[in-house]
Amino acid sequence: MNKNNISIIILAAGKGSRMKSPTAKVLHSISGKPMLYHIIKVSQEISNDITVVIAHQKEKVQEAMQSHFENINFCVQDAENFPGTGGAMKNIAPKNEKVLVLNGDMPLITAEALDGFLNTDADIIMSIFDLQNPDGYGRVIIEENQVQRIVEQKDASAQELKVSTVNAGIYAFSKTVIEKYIPLLTNENAQKEYYLTDVISMARKDGLNISPLLVDEANFKGVNSKKDLSDSEMIMQDKIKTAWMNAGVIMQLPSTIYIEEGVTFEGECIIENGCRITGDTLISNSHIKASSVIEDSIVKSSDVGPLAHLRPASYIEDTHIGNFVEVKKSSLKGVKAGHLSYIGDSQVDEGTNIGAGVITCNYDGINKYKTIIGKNVFIGSDSQIVAPVQIEDDVMIAAGTTVTSGQVKSGSLAISRVKLRTIKDFYYKFFNKK
Ligand code: UD1
Ligand code: CA
Repeated sequence: MNKNNISIIILAAGKGSRMKSPTAKVLHSISGKPMLYHIIKVSQEISNDITVVIAHQKEKVQEAMQSHFENINFCVQDAENFPGTGGAMKNIAPKNEKVLVLNGDMPLITAEALDGFLNTDADIIMSIFDLQNPDGYGRVIIEENQVQRIVEQKDASAQELKVSTVNAGIYAFSKTVIEKYIPLLTNENAQKEYYLTDVISMARKDGLNISPLLVDEANFKGVNSKKDLSDSEMIMQDKIKTAWMNAGVIMQLPSTIYIEEGVTFEGECIIENGCRITGDTLISNSHIKASSVIEDSIVKSSDVGPLAHLRPASYIEDTHIGNFVEVKKSSLKGVKAGHLSYIGDSQVDEGTNIGAGVITCNYDGINKYKTIIGKNVFIGSDSQIVAPVQIEDDVMIAAGTTVTSGQVKSGSLAISRVKLRTIKDFYYKFFNKK
């Protein structure tokens, strides 16, 4: 494929009122990234000339995309005077002869699924699918074996509403078609909008060659509502998890697992039910046990969970993380932290054992401080390490100790305990039992 032969226009200027949300529709996330991100990413595999049409919350949309991509053109639609998908196409000057137009609310699209739009020479290629419930989509009217026109739901007659063949919302036009028909669009319809879809009937009347391409919902579903958003999320999750299982990851009850775009696995990994793995996480040769949450972290040759939480910037290698352990922005190498701990802003070295209930106190209400723990340290249960603190190699911290000294030297025992008192018969006196 030659990326210099085709221009891509992505329509992302609409209000998305049916989302009932203060967030612009195209910025709603699917598998951890905005819908529009997924579409631009796929577009970049196909073309070097990508234009995103924006209007509603244009600064936010543009900023969000510029944080991920370079070399994207943005064009602002005059949505007040020319609302609608046809209005969005005004003032667009594509570089190339062939122009692919994508709706910005179709996050499931893939480069392979777009192949069919690139390899024929019809004046217009449009995408269609058949749905049991065509609600919300424009109906495609086919007569005499030819596509005649697209009727939007709000303009359709009772008869037309029954048509189950719908417009999926992706088109390949020749540049000449765009230059000729976009200026001719009118807004004489139920929504008083300029419909891009009206190009079809005009081109038909002029005898142009319109080629319908049958596509599938799994790649071409449009998102108009929060229900569509969750349905699309399910499809995207299924794709992501299937791809990783095919690459060798073992998943138990994959329907209960959530894995974001951007997560990677290496070697043999086992992911148990109920796990949520997000951001730029890398998991290599590890076992993630039930109901664990891992965010933006690296896990190598380790086992984590059940019910553990690795928060962003954690690096875990050759380590055992057990249940109810939370780790944040810390590096643990060759460590055992089996139960009920918080390890934050810490660096913990090989052979160290972190007992149940150990807490690094990394925050004094204003600033965060680091805890550095060396090799072969034994930290007894229910100890608090008040940072900033450095515990050198070969140290014992007695159970229940509060470490506040800043530094514990190699070979020492640190112990802070109140002497135990036992008061004879106190229980019986207190409860009046004897
Ligand atoms: C559109 C099609 C419909 C098709 C459906 C497929 C039209 C008129 N209708 O309907 O036939 O079945 O997609 O999903 O095209 N947008 C703008 N500027 C605007 C309005 C919309 O850029 O003024 C953008 C939106 O941000 C969105 C895309 O165009 O990404 C589609 O708009 P939307 O309102 O969702 O169109 P549908 O009603 O779904
Ligand atoms: Ca739509």
